[in-house]
Amino acid sequence: MKRLIFILCMLLVVFLIVWLVAYIHKSPMVQNSEYQASNRDTQIVIYDIDDLEGEVAQIIPKGGFDYIRGGAGTEQTMMRNTTSFDNVDIVPRVLTGVVEPNITTTIFGTEIALPVIAAPAAAHGLAHVSAEAGTAHGVAAAGTIMSVSTYASSTLEEIARAGRGAPQWFQLYLSKDENFNRQIVKKAEDLGYKAIILTVDAPVGGNRIADLRNDFKFPLEMPNVAKKTMKTKGQGIGKIFAASKNDLSPYDVMWLKSVTKLPVIVKGIQHPDDAELAILAGADAIWVSNHGGRQLDGAPGAFEMLPEIAARINKRVPIIFDSGIRRGQHIFKAIASGADIVAIGRPVIYGLALGGWRGVVDVFDWLKKDLRRVMVLAGAYNIEDIKQTKLHPNSAGGMCEK
Ligand code: FNR
Ligand code: LAC
Repeated sequence: MKRLIFILCMLLVVFLIVWLVAYIHKSPMVQNSEYQASNRDTQIVIYDIDDLEGEVAQIIPKGGFDYIRGGAGTEQTMMRNTTSFDNVDIVPRVLTGVVEPNITTTIFGTEIALPVIAAPAAAHGLAHVSAEAGTAHGVAAAGTIMSVSTYASSTLEEIARAGRGAPQWFQLYLSKDENFNRQIVKKAEDLGYKAIILTVDAPVGGNRIADLRNDFKFPLEMPNVAKKTMKTKGQGIGKIFAASKNDLSPYDVMWLKSVTKLPVIVKGIQHPDDAELAILAGADAIWVSNHGGRQLDGAPGAFEMLPEIAARINKRVPIIFDSGIRRGQHIFKAIASGADIVAIGRPVIYGLALGGWRGVVDVFDWLKKDLRRVMVLAGAYNIEDIKQTKLHPNSAGGMCEK
């Protein structure tokens, strides 16, 4: 009997030690001193993109995961980004003969394998040791465009090299230092980036409650801005936003147009009047987005605003749409509501974390497959057919038909 009690006590002690080590490893305090991103390099089996989030939560430190997953406030807007797609229906069409739909499309003269690109996202190094260079490799292999954040963990040079000539766009957060802005735009041009995305929906950071609770500070440098304009490693996103240019106006779009020959895409538009302002200021495309619900909580789901904005733009410039896209029917509904192409943020980073560049390819491959299925069942042969499709409002949403 005594022997049994001793063994049970030893087992309890071992269990407590293992639990403590695991807890400390995942706690934000540790991740700032020795952040351990994933180093996986493998294909991933995807049944549903929504499964990825929970898997990633198991393999990277809590602080980094919560930063990637998190939305602002109580995440109502983040949730509506995806649920608002349920407000309209795709009415299936039959007897169409569509079996092998064509999902390719072009944007600014660049042909892409599917109407989905990678949205700009800071600090891919939080997900995987290969960071944006790994993402660039995967996005290039998937045959689409990678948008590269000013706040990337890899340099613009590393990312361009990893993309092996595949099309990449550079997303600019304007700095307070105009010379820095000129230099980084010139660098992007010289490196072969094909467009400049000006993000305008983050004059201040959204209320990222998880980051506050975690006291999250970036454990990695942002080499494209660090030392030049602001300290990044050891800073929270609020401080980093505060150090960038906050008082954005249409003049900033005009300024950017004056310093680059590349197309200028204005990202973070959620109101038709702002789309008008941006076009009048020279925008070559409008990126309808609420930053994946990471900025103003209490705003509509981005998809809820798309039809009105698209009607106002009236095909004057291309529309990119993001926030909440997770499957083929979302891609279909966004394009049928006026977007030319869509973008995904978190799913790309989740693929990177779970499989490295191969995981990124698998995410886009899953979306290709899912979109093809939706198009066959909807009787849409190509992207143009989707654009001509009238969605059906349902009792949940009653959204106006396009
Ligand atoms: C972002 N997003 C973003 N946008 C931007 O213009 N510059 C940036 O540096 C970042 N950084 C960033 C980091 C992380 C971790 C996330 C999740 C998002 C917003 C991004 O471009 C895009 O608008 C949303 O991610 C789209 O929503 P989904 O697809 O993530 O739901
Ligand atoms: C974010 C910034 C970096 O959403 O865009 O975290």
